[in-house]
Amino acid sequence: MAGMKVLLVGSGGREHAIGEALRRSEAEVFVAAPTVNPGLHRLAREYRTLPVEDGEAITQWAKACRVSLAVLGPDASVAAGVADNLRAAGIPTVGPGKDGARMESSKAFAREFLDRHGIRETPQFQIVKSPGEIEGALSSFAETGFVLKPSWLTAGKGVLVGGVDFQTPTEGRQLASQMLAEGKGAPLVVEEKLDGEEFSLMAFVDGKHVYPMPLVKDYKRALDGDLGGNTGGMGSFSTRDHLLPYVSSADRDTSVALLERTVTALQKEGIDYRGILYAGFMMTRRGPLILEFNARFGDPEALNVLTLYNGTDFAPLLLSLAEGNLNRTFLDFRLRASVVKYLVPPGYGSHPTSGGILEIDEAALARNAISLYYGSVTPGPHPGSVVLGTSRAIALVAEASALREALVRVEDGIRCVKGTFDLRHDIATAIDLKKRTSHMDTVRATTPTTPGGVANLTRSGPQPPSVFT
Ligand code: AMP
Ligand code: GLY
Repeated sequence: MAGMKVLLVGSGGREHAIGEALRRSEAEVFVAAPTVNPGLHRLAREYRTLPVEDGEAITQWAKACRVSLAVLGPDASVAAGVADNLRAAGIPTVGPGKDGARMESSKAFAREFLDRHGIRETPQFQIVKSPGEIEGALSSFAETGFVLKPSWLTAGKGVLVGGVDFQTPTEGRQLASQMLAEGKGAPLVVEEKLDGEEFSLMAFVDGKHVYPMPLVKDYKRALDGDLGGNTGGMGSFSTRDHLLPYVSSADRDTSVALLERTVTALQKEGIDYRGILYAGFMMTRRGPLILEFNARFGDPEALNVLTLYNGTDFAPLLLSLAEGNLNRTFLDFRLRASVVKYLVPPGYGSHPTSGGILEIDEAALARNAISLYYGSVTPGPHPGSVVLGTSRAIALVAEASALREALVRVEDGIRCVKGTFDLRHDIATAIDLKKRTSHMDTVRATTPTTPGGVANLTRSGPQPPSVFT
């Protein structure tokens, strides 16, 4: 559909990748975002600096540009109900309204919603609304350890895991009361701590049906070995069979079925969810359990799947989703592996230092078919240079028939960037994958400590496909 006019909200690496995929389908892209992303700026027909939460201003501009479709990138935009404004103006939109956005914006809502619909494939949880309830909630997870989750948006950085972010129950108790006070009335979710390995499953949802994308493994902690603080995500990989070394196709089917039950439940509650539904799963000995939902593409996960998107029909695909009847003939992802690495400002994850300059040899990246996506950067003093902000700066992405090859290509790409930055060195390495698959083997062989678990305790461990051939 040449020349379809599309409004894209947001200016991170995810939105840059969405913008490129839209351009590949010859859409004219109009960007609304508070900051100017150099990559989006290059591809956009027009760029308007607007707050991503300002539904009225965004809609006014969308109408002035006569767009046929709007795509919401960031969680803040979705949570603010910008999709409701756009739809009220007759603009088909990718992104749920304020009602569906609660699946991400309120962890308490999401947990209670699943519970209400009998979807119990989650960690055990308690909702804490007042300081008096903390003690009781924490003591119910004495055996498993617990995780504290603020029930409001924290850009993936507010969750505190027992044994990782705090060491003793006393410390946990103190943090719980601090968080509750910070929440100003919003509840805190306390959860059973699960043991396992994580994966992300994103799906296109047109209000009725779930169309899954390839599975992706995101590396959320700032430092190698999953140390350091939780971040937006330091990088990610996907394999050529669209599974993961520790997630079999049966596990994937189970996970997709959970998303399908979730969408049916949304329909039952009168929520017409049109957008991307992203579930963060923990692969456990009880099978895949839902850790969280996001009501948008993941970042970096979007960079994996959009790199693998095969068609030149991304704009019509999204339009059919937004119109409530996804056209599956547009769904086509290459059976290839992909690796994403974010280069971040020094100290990202705790105390990032902004202002440094990166010199990027874009021609060399292009020659090697390595995609470059800009995140939190501004244009630098000369062509090819950028100035670091405080968040993830640039992402390098490569695809190949084998994971190892994609990783080597991304590593080559990193040599095309000069400057001071941090990055994770263990993303998609053979050693890291081996560590994760043997951890899963140990987890599957362990006797459960929690009663009332959901699931199929007799599930036999899947044989991981070799991703290194
Ligand atoms: P969330 O925002 O809910 O995905 O949580 C952020 C991160 O905290 C996840 O990616 C996990 O690494 C960790 N986490 C969340 N919930 C749990 C849990 N119940 N058990 C263990 N780790 C968890
Ligand atoms: N990569 C996790 C997120 O987008 O929230």
